[in-house]
Amino acid sequence: MKVAIVTDIHHGKPSHTKRSDTAMDQMAQFEEWVRGEKPDTVIDLGNRINDKDAATDRVLMSDVNDAFSSFNVPVHNISGNHDRYHLSVTENAEIMGQPMMSEVIDTGSWQIFLWRAETKITWSETHRGFDLPESDYLWLAHQIAAAEKPTLVLSHVPVSGHSQIGNYYFQENQDLSTYPQNFRVRQALSLTRVPIVWLSGHVHRNTVTQIDGIFHLTQQSLTESFTTGGEPAGAWAALELASEVSWTVKGLDPLACILPLHTKRWVPPLQPFSHGRPQQR
Ligand SMILES: [Fe+2]
Repeated sequence: MKVAIVTDIHHGKPSHTKRSDTAMDQMAQFEEWVRGEKPDTVIDLGNRINDKDAATDRVLMSDVNDAFSSFNVPVHNISGNHDRYHLSVTENAEIMGQPMMSEVIDTGSWQIFLWRAETKITWSETHRGFDLPESDYLWLAHQIAAAEKPTLVLSHVPVSGHSQIGNYYFQENQDLSTYPQNFRVRQALSLTRVPIVWLSGHVHRNTVTQIDGIFHLTQQSLTESFTTGGEPAGAWAALELASEVSWTVKGLDPLACILPLHTKRWVPPLQPFSHGRPQQR
């Protein structure tokens, strides 16, 4: 099973280091690559647009949908915080022509969870950031508990809690890089009986992190430039799911890695050494 992944297209007006002005050109190049590479499916991990207002966002989102409609393979979309700021889940679904509920794609030897958890960011005096609805947590927890084959989880927002040091957007805004409830999600993952690999967008960096025995990846944005000297990264990836996982990110911020397929076998951690040096065993 070969999956092509693109994330954080950010079509719209350039903002900070996002070269949003190049989004449609980059999508055309991605489409050409897909035509040659012939993946089984294309999956977009969200933040298709730079939001402005509802009317503008509908136009921008439609542009992105038009770009995807020329792809000759099935396309699945997940929504990110910018997609959700002015547009509802239903509006995203209408424009992109598909339901925006979490779903499972069974590929035979693998399964893929499109975890379309809420990604709206709230900015109020009492709370800023994401807030994971219990229903989204429960959907995932139930699916993980029932999983009987290797599983790829795809989401907009990462849950690993990985370092944001050096990240242009998130070093000083770590709380906006993930869900405040990410620990609960990792607890649900820790009960797995099958190999799990998790891939997200949102943080505009390629990262590979192993947390609690599970590999978490984040993929560079299609149009980000803070890691590429001002040029748009042009990042998209081939992800092959087989007896191991191979992830190859193309563009100006490339990365390739092969992950072994293993089920978590880690021993639970020791208690805190709060009473001095622990007895040597
Ligand atoms: Fe983004």
